[in-house]
Amino acid sequence: MKITSIAHSNIALIKFFGKSDNNLRIPTNNSLSMSLSAAVTMTTVEFSDNYPEDGIQMIGETLSEIEKNRIIRHLDRIRKIANKNLSAKVVTQNSFPKSTGIASSASGFAALTVAGTKAIGLDMSEKELSTLARLASGSACRSIPSGYVEWEKGNSHETSFAHSIYPPGYWDLRDLVVVVEKSPKKISTSAVHEMAKTSPFFVKRLTGMDEKIKCLKNAFDKKNFEMFGEIVEHEAFNMHAVMMTMNPPVIYWTPQTVEIIMGIHNLRAQKIPVYFTLDAGPNVHCICEGKYEKQILSYLKRMKNIQEIIVNHPGEGAYLSEGHLF
Ligand code: DP6
Repeated sequence: MKITSIAHSNIALIKFFGKSDNNLRIPTNNSLSMSLSAAVTMTTVEFSDNYPEDGIQMIGETLSEIEKNRIIRHLDRIRKIANKNLSAKVVTQNSFPKSTGIASSASGFAALTVAGTKAIGLDMSEKELSTLARLASGSACRSIPSGYVEWEKGNSHETSFAHSIYPPGYWDLRDLVVVVEKSPKKISTSAVHEMAKTSPFFVKRLTGMDEKIKCLKNAFDKKNFEMFGEIVEHEAFNMHAVMMTMNPPVIYWTPQTVEIIMGIHNLRAQKIPVYFTLDAGPNVHCICEGKYEKQILSYLKRMKNIQEIIVNHPGEGAYLSEGHLF
């Protein structure tokens, strides 16, 4: 049976950075994220004994052998759970450029997990889908639930999963993703996670984590945007400070990244509440409340060397779709 799923990417407000178990992708700390309405992956999967081998295709982009093998490894996990040895056809499409710091692996593996399990005849709960998606890419477990999400790090496969802490409509936030670079990353995020411990600041980062998460949840409860933004922006600087002090250092920022950060600080100096965060890439996620979207967009659009701005509301979790890609 042909099954299609749609999943949204997510932006981490508190980051997943560093793993205590690389195979199971168990993180060293809990993380918090927002689902991104406009950063979407659609994936159709069909298992059949008519297919001599797995066939993987991404519409509009070329997948490397490494990327294809990562998808096949996830199909293997699904086949193992279902105890079926059928090859699959997978066709997938992103609404945004992959490998640029907008987590394409998150939405991609969430959509593959939901479509793949259903297509092979499994019926999994949200929690089971989240744990399974995590094995393919950590942040993918946060793209299964809806809205604002927490990933409990847990200490085993079964206890490390994400769940929604607030529905999308709880707080009308925006993530305006300023795309300054569309070329693929030079180093995989998985490799960067493994380097985290080489920074002298990594241990220090972890000691403050529980308190930071508690404070962010408090800001959510109060819908206090300034308190929220201060924590989110500080967290982005914190993770990138660790990245820049690893051995060897990893620097994702480009001159445009810094210009936009300065632009955001300039907007705040004019009493416009906007903060930023960054994932493993140079593109800047500008976070604001919905009522300031137009004002901030018109400022950002006047900045130089910007390729595109993607406007995101809090998005839904992964779901099944009637339309198919083949
Ligand atoms: C910096 O989930 O892409 O975006 O499990 O190796 O696929 P793998 O890592 P991935 O890491 C995301 C790291 C981050 C922060 C975050 O999304 O929390």
